Amino acid sequence: MKYFIGNWKMFGIPRSIKIIDRINNFSNRDKKNNKKYKAIIAPPHTLLQDFSRKFKNKKVSICAQNCFEKDRFGAYTGSVSAFMIKKIGINYVIIGHSENRAYGENDSIIKEKIFTALKNNLNIIFCIGEDKNQKRKKLTLKVLKKQITKVLKRNYNLKKIIIAYEPVWSIGTGKIPKPAELQKILILLKKFLKSHFKTRYNFKILYGGSVDSKNIDNFKLMKELDGFLIGGASKSSKKFIDIIKKFYK
Ligand code: PGA
Repeated sequence: MKYFIGNWKMFGIPRSIKIIDRINNFSNRDKKNNKKYKAIIAPPHTLLQDFSRKFKNKKVSICAQNCFEKDRFGAYTGSVSAFMIKKIGINYVIIGHSENRAYGENDSIIKEKIFTALKNNLNIIFCIGEDKNQKRKKLTLKVLKKQITKVLKRNYNLKKIIIAYEPVWSIGTGKIPKPAELQKILILLKKFLKSHFKTRYNFKILYGGSVDSKNIDNFKLMKELDGFLIGGASKSSKKFIDIIKKFYK
């Protein structure tokens, strides 16, 4: 099963629901392939409750873009907890996106967020990725391993965690990794995850960063790849649907 997850970032107003409606209708009609993938959209917090109601038990699921690191309730102005997200019927949350890391979300905060999200039984899209400098210095794998081991514990329910590999240099830039490079990272990362967590569980790893219908063919043959986290191209139902169509063509 592949995931096609759309991250709207700070975009979307109530009538943007049309975008998800169209994706949901497409997925319903797509009888030939719709069992092979799951489409999930992450709108901003303002739309979560309404959209989660409207897409309850529908083909498309709704995901939160982040949650606060403290559990349940507290004097944290402007924050939303994993508990509150779960209570409105949401089952997915993105944690550790590089855009939030750039604003000071460090490994210890991400660790707390993952802990509280798991406690509230949310599925986590956990973002990791190296920046341009780290890539140039050939530190990619080292960075990824560190980002993982600093926050995930061996006794966690690892099946609730979907890793999204998003090289920072590829987000919103139109640049994607060379297929052979990405393939190598996926293989080494999966191997590392199995040995580090002493498990036979085959971790799910998504790719994110400038995915669109024009470059999706590059990712088609990577059997280690479990799907995509899509930013820019998820704000248009046509672009998002085209990605899925082309992937299964
Ligand atoms: P992009 O964003 O597809 O616009 O590069 C991906 C992401 O930030 O998750």
